[in-house]
Amino acid sequence: MAEAESAAMEVDSGPLSPVKPPYASKGKAAAATVPPDSKSAPWVEKYRPQSLADVAAHRDIIDTIDRLTNENRLPHLLLYGPPGTGKTSTILAVARKLYGAQYHNMILELNASDDRGIDVVRQQIQDFASTRSFDAKCLVKLVLLDEADAMTKDAQFALRRVIEKYTRSTRFTLICNHVNKIIPALQSRCTRFRFAPLDATHVTERLQYIIQAEGIDVSESGLAAVVRLSSGDMRKALNILQSTHMASQHVTEEAVYLCTGNPLPKDIEQIALWLLNEPFTADISETKMRKGLALVDIVREVTMFMFKIKMPSDVRVQLVNDLADIEYRLSVGCSDKLQLGSLISSFTKARSALVAAANI
Ligand SMILES: Nc1ncnc2c1ncn2[C@@H]1O[C@H](COP(=O)(O)OP(=O)(O)OP(=O)(O)O)[C@@H](O)[C@H]1O
Ligand SMILES: [Mg+2]
Repeated sequence: MAEAESAAMEVDSGPLSPVKPPYASKGKAAAATVPPDSKSAPWVEKYRPQSLADVAAHRDIIDTIDRLTNENRLPHLLLYGPPGTGKTSTILAVARKLYGAQYHNMILELNASDDRGIDVVRQQIQDFASTRSFDAKCLVKLVLLDEADAMTKDAQFALRRVIEKYTRSTRFTLICNHVNKIIPALQSRCTRFRFAPLDATHVTERLQYIIQAEGIDVSESGLAAVVRLSSGDMRKALNILQSTHMASQHVTEEAVYLCTGNPLPKDIEQIALWLLNEPFTADISETKMRKGLALVDIVREVTMFMFKIKMPSDVRVQLVNDLADIEYRLSVGCSDKLQLGSLISSFTKARSALVAAANI
C-alpha cells in the first residue's frame, strides 16, 4: 500500500494547479491540471484527474492498478460502474503514466462515437495490436474500448481471439456501465474492477478543492445540496456546481434546487403534508405550476419522504407500490394531470388505511 502510494506520487501530471486536493496533498502528482485559458471551460474537463493520485475515492482499486502499472504487470482490465465515477479518467491517467509524451502513439482509444462493429475489431484493432512498438521502455500498448457495452455481440466474440493473440504486446481495457452486456468470455479474460458511486465525503472533498481553486462563493447548505443531488456521480456534481455558479453569484441551497429544477426539500415537505392531511386539494397543482416542478420529481421525492415518517409497514408498502406505478406511468408518457389525481387518490387510500389501523 505504502509502496503503491509513493509510486503514485511520482506521476508526472503536467502543469500544476495552484491548489492541491485535500485528499492527496503531497507531491506534484497531487495537483490537478488546470489549463490557463480555462475561465469558460467545462469543469468536468478542466478538473478531470490527470494522475491516479487525483482520482477521488476507489483507493483500493487505484492502488492496485497503480502497483500493477509500476511493476509492468498490467492485466487486461474491465472497469465498470455507473456514470461519472472515474473509470475513463483512471485509465487515461494510467496511460499518461505509462507513456508520458508517447501517449498518443501508444494507445488506441475507441468509444461509442466510433464504429466498433466486427470490421473495426478485424482491421483497426488488429492492425494496431500487431504493429511493433520501437520504444524499448514501453513494453505494451493499450487498446481502450470505452462504452464497451455498446459493442455488438459479433464484435465482442471477434475480440476474444484478438485479445489472446496479442497479449504479449498489447493490453486491452474495456469500460462500461452495464457489465452484463459484456459477454462472459471477455469478462473472464479481464481483471474486473467495479467503480461504485462516490460517497458523499469524497464528493464533498473534491468539490471543496474545486471551489477553492475557482474562488467561488458556496454556502455549506449549497454544497450539501450539490452533493445530495449528484447521488455519487462526480460529473453531475461538477455540472450542477458550475451551472448554479453561472446562474447566481452565491451558490446557496435554494439556488442549486432552482437551477436544476428540482423541488426544494421544504416544498416536498409541504406537498407531503397536504397529501397526508388535506382532502382533495388544488394546492399541489398550483405549487407545481408556480414553481415549474415536474410531477415525476415530486413523486420521487415524496416517495423518499415516506420512508422518513412513521406509519404501519403494510400501509407504507401499499403506498410506495402505488407511487412506483405512478412513476412508471409517467415515464411512458401518461398525462401529468391524471397522474396527479392518481397520486392524491393513493394518499387518500393510505389515509383511510391509517385510520383503520388506528381504530384496531
Ligand atoms: N473519482 C473521481 N475523482 C475525481 N473526479 C472525478 C471522479 N470521477 C469522475 N470525476 C469527474 O467527472 C468527470 C467524468 O469522469 P469519467 O469520464 O472518468 O467518468 P466515467 O466513470 O468514465 O463515466 P461514464 O461511465 O459516463 O463514461 C471527470 O472529468 C472528472 O471531472
Ligand atoms: Mg467514461
